[in-house]
Amino acid sequence: MPYELTDEQRDRYRETSIRSQLRKRELLRRHIEGGDTDTVELGQRFDPNDLMPQLESNGLTCLSLFSGGGGLDLGFERAGFEHGSAFEILDICGKTLQANRPEWDVRYGAAGDVCIAPFTPFRGVDIVHGGPPCQPFSTAGKQAGANDARNMWPDFVRCIQQTRPRAFIAENVPGILDRKFATVVNKNILAPLSENYIIFKFKLAAHDFGVPQARRRVFFVGFRAARDAARWVAPLPTHGDVGDLLGPIFSRNTTRRSLGLPDQGFDVVAPTLRSGFTGPRNTTGVVNSKASLKIWNELHIWPNGVQPTRALAAAYKPENGDFRLSVDDCALLQGFPSDWRFCGAVYQALGQIGNSVCPPVAYVVARQVARALRG
Ligand SMILES: C[S@@+](CC[C@H](N)C(=O)[O-])C[C@H]1O[C@@H](n2cnc3c(N)ncnc32)[C@H](O)[C@@H]1O
Repeated sequence: MPYELTDEQRDRYRETSIRSQLRKRELLRRHIEGGDTDTVELGQRFDPNDLMPQLESNGLTCLSLFSGGGGLDLGFERAGFEHGSAFEILDICGKTLQANRPEWDVRYGAAGDVCIAPFTPFRGVDIVHGGPPCQPFSTAGKQAGANDARNMWPDFVRCIQQTRPRAFIAENVPGILDRKFATVVNKNILAPLSENYIIFKFKLAAHDFGVPQARRRVFFVGFRAARDAARWVAPLPTHGDVGDLLGPIFSRNTTRRSLGLPDQGFDVVAPTLRSGFTGPRNTTGVVNSKASLKIWNELHIWPNGVQPTRALAAAYKPENGDFRLSVDDCALLQGFPSDWRFCGAVYQALGQIGNSVCPPVAYVVARQVARALRG
């Protein structure tokens, strides 16, 4: 829907936009000439690798579908799984995966299209994992479910039927568990898969596992053997309100502290980052609701005009003096370690970040799957 603006509003927006562009140009010129004096002294940052220490190889192989920027793939790798092949339709995501792990077999573009790929050559793989596009079920979309052309669950199911892995892991948005999708989920996902698998369905919140961001996701985990299924235990929160003997051990990681920003009296987990692939334009902002904008404001963090690097973000300080986010900061708030790089323009990097499973969450699920499979 085009915005309905009065002439007066349009002129005001145009004026603000021109002023902001001129200011940006001037600040970045000063930065390039080395004349910056006002840089932020950052303290120690949170290291997502602390949440997912590299485990020894468990000898189990994975096939990754709808791999995106690699959140699930990275979590599984750190939990000791061997990466088999990855299928992803977007070139930019394929490039990210290849740049970070040149040794992985990454298929992208038409070669990575899950809807046309034959999967029988992968028969014998131990695990299939993937996050079929969530837009058909997302509250941010029209929730057309099975009628949405982006519903790719049938191809996820086909892959499982053709490869017959010991276990599968599928991730999606909480919206998929809405009552209105119960029939779709039962008919298209659970019924065909439960012929050969015992399936567990559960929700996890990233901030309960040390990721400094509020992000809830649904997982479906299926085991072919009853013996493996009997050993399955869903991951238990590690971070939260401490004090309860049986509760989490660590308090939550908060936004400012995780980014190494000075204490200013208010700090909470970051609001859910919006994916740069959603919405009408190629956005460089990560705000996904009015409520989340309020939290960013209280955190004194500027969530729009995200910059490619921290140096550029520091050079292009917002007029109100808040801390401007960079792609690196968003990746960190999603739980990606600093050596995982995203290819592409800012909106493409934010698209890959906002679409991903937080690697530390993928890691805890992967670790529990390995425990079930290895006994
Ligand atoms: C929710 S994202 C997956 C994120 C990923 N699991 C992660 O943790 O980073 C879904 C991905 O499916 C990809 N996709 C959509 N249609 C596809 C198709 N036909 N074949 C392969 N990938 C597809 C999208 O480009 C997107 O990257």
